[in-house]
Amino acid sequence: MGKEMLPELIIHNTTSLDGSLSGFHADMGLHYRILGTLGPDAMLVGSVTARTGAEMFTGSVPPEEATDFEKPSYDTGSAGTYWIIPDSRGILEGVLHVFRRSGYCRDVIVLVSEGTTASYIEYLQQRNYDYIISGTDHADYRQALEICNERYGFRKIVTDCGSTLCGILLDQGLVSMISLVVTPAIAGKDCLCLFGKSTETEVKLEPIRHEVFDSGHMHVLYRLTGR
Ligand SMILES: NC(=O)c1ccc[n+]([C@@H]2O[C@H](COP(=O)([O-])OP(=O)(O)OC[C@H]3O[C@@H](n4cnc5c(N)ncnc54)[C@H](OP(=O)(O)O)[C@@H]3O)[C@@H](O)[C@H]2O)c1
Repeated sequence: MGKEMLPELIIHNTTSLDGSLSGFHADMGLHYRILGTLGPDAMLVGSVTARTGAEMFTGSVPPEEATDFEKPSYDTGSAGTYWIIPDSRGILEGVLHVFRRSGYCRDVIVLVSEGTTASYIEYLQQRNYDYIISGTDHADYRQALEICNERYGFRKIVTDCGSTLCGILLDQGLVSMISLVVTPAIAGKDCLCLFGKSTETEVKLEPIRHEVFDSGHMHVLYRLTGR
């Protein structure tokens, strides 16, 4: 299978002016509104981001009910896109129903690896979650994204993840564009650099578009042109 089978992958984050993912107040409404304008067929959500989000959304994870074991009915026009979540460690065991129920997520597709425990695979199977096995330890994103294109017809995927997954996707050459909501704030000593975990040095970009909001936020969209 060739590179042409890879979906377009856009990294989308909200940062401070000094490129931090945390240490400032992020406007989550603006973050997700702009994410929607990028027109994703699916979102690639980091498992730590997902877990943090579930805890913020619900306070504590509610117990499962019988309906949580069934796939949502798509005929009723359920909201949102698919969420593709790499979770080879199974940290979302007992949590996935929060996303399935949320109304923001059409359903979850979990990326696991050959190293994922049989008990987590069983958890996914019993609840009818789609999953893709690739890679030996963590998921092999190139292979998994190609399968997503082939199996689900995903042509454009937008990320919702932190510096760990952002760095890995950049290093593996899977990113085509970067979309940032730049916040008028400086994180300073609390700076957690967006690509701080990347091993790349100078990745070249060309601007596609930008928009300034009355609040002082700026949306910038860049295409990767080379290394
Ligand atoms: N400001 C923003 O725009 C923004 C957006 C999203 C999140 N965040 C913040 O970012 C934080 C979470 O970010 P994070 O960096 O800790 O985690 P993350 O990016 O949400 O999750 C890490 C992901 O990387 C994968 N991974 C880890 N090591 C890997 C490896 N060696 N090879 C392949 N895949 C690997 C994990 O999959 P496995 O489970 O398979 O290991 C997991 O899905 C949260 O605090 C969240 O609030 C901020």
